[in-house]
Amino acid sequence: MQQIITPARRLDGQIRLPGDKSVSHRYGILAAIAEGSSTIHHYSTGADCQSTLGCMRALGVSITRREDGAVLIEGRGLNGLQAPAGDLDAGNSGSTIRMLSGVLAAQPFTSRIAGDESLSRRPMDRIMKPLSLMGADVEAVDGRFPPLTIHGRALKAMRYEPPMASAQVKTCVLMAGLYAEGETAVLEKVGTRDHTELALREFGAEIVSSGGVITVKGPARLQGRELSVPGDLSSAAFFLVAAAIVPGSKLLIQGVGLNPSRSALLDWLVAAGVNLRVSNLAEVSGELVGDLLVTGGDVKGGIIRGAASAALIDEIPVLSVLGAVSRDGLVVKDARELRVKETDRIATVADNLQRMGVRVEVYEDGFRVPGKQKFRAARVDSFGDHRIAMAFAVAGLAAEGETAVLNAGAASVSFPEFYATLRQITV
Ligand code: S3P
Repeated sequence: MQQIITPARRLDGQIRLPGDKSVSHRYGILAAIAEGSSTIHHYSTGADCQSTLGCMRALGVSITRREDGAVLIEGRGLNGLQAPAGDLDAGNSGSTIRMLSGVLAAQPFTSRIAGDESLSRRPMDRIMKPLSLMGADVEAVDGRFPPLTIHGRALKAMRYEPPMASAQVKTCVLMAGLYAEGETAVLEKVGTRDHTELALREFGAEIVSSGGVITVKGPARLQGRELSVPGDLSSAAFFLVAAAIVPGSKLLIQGVGLNPSRSALLDWLVAAGVNLRVSNLAEVSGELVGDLLVTGGDVKGGIIRGAASAALIDEIPVLSVLGAVSRDGLVVKDARELRVKETDRIATVADNLQRMGVRVEVYEDGFRVPGKQKFRAARVDSFGDHRIAMAFAVAGLAAEGETAVLNAGAASVSFPEFYATLRQITV
């Protein structure tokens, strides 16, 4: 599927976005192993989060979607999952395979979890190592790639310091820790998104987070809950950048998740000269939520490095677009993790920028996009990566002429309504 993007005169209106992908995965898994039923409002419509629900169904969990969109999950308790009849399918979703593996490692059965071509190239040794230290037996292709065959075992609690900043790895270990007798701790040098910690607290687990050490006590008893997922800040990022770089724009995005461990994006945008206002702050299911008002104008650009690279990792593709039209450009360093996302995002960002006539200098761990450049209309490609599709659709709004986004359907991995929403606010 290809999408044609025509230049925008401005963006105008108010929108609400689908539920946060990160939060939805966690609620979907935890509700399935909780006792009693859970009702999850505003669960992500993205294919990735449907993959998580599909896996939980294959493990014997009853999940239905109400007409108002709420997802009802009949929890089976910590030890109530059933051996799946066939392979579990994580689709394109790194979160599904990495987080769920922590649960599968503790089951009294063997399961195999696989994914699509892109997922089959993503490294899983980062979760295999801690799970094996806890006593699990996990086999992978070439020792690190999906499909994973997970022979469940009685797990041992442990303290673990992941070598990379990764909320997925942290979550995998904490999920496994729910089953292990005693305290399982994850030590983080660089803090990552804390949705798992907040969700575990909502479901009633004993979880403490202090000074970079997150400790969960097992075996845990989780209780089914009624929860509401905030709008996805990473999806909002595409519209924030779009409105910021098209002069005369004014866009209100309501009900967005503003968890402080995710909202470095807002501080970065403000420092980059974006006119952004936050209002209506509230707490929903333990998560901070608010409205974002952004207006278009001149932007300065900036640098992303160190801890900011981890905090902004999903937003860097669309920030590259902002960088190109900004006054000073964008430098990204310390972001080697971009190379092992749904695509090698350093390569796919650079390829598409160049197709649109934008200069970019590539480093092993990032890139530099000089400022004051213009996007030329071109045929860009998502390469099957949702965030690349959406980032370059945004570039198309600021281009001279029509931009074709090839393999544009990839956006539905996190945001099926993306192009319709974009059309709704483009003048
Ligand atoms: C996520 C963590 C990040 C992020 C991904 C979602 C999560 O991945 O890129 O989109 O929900 O925990 P890493 O843990 O690999 O950094």
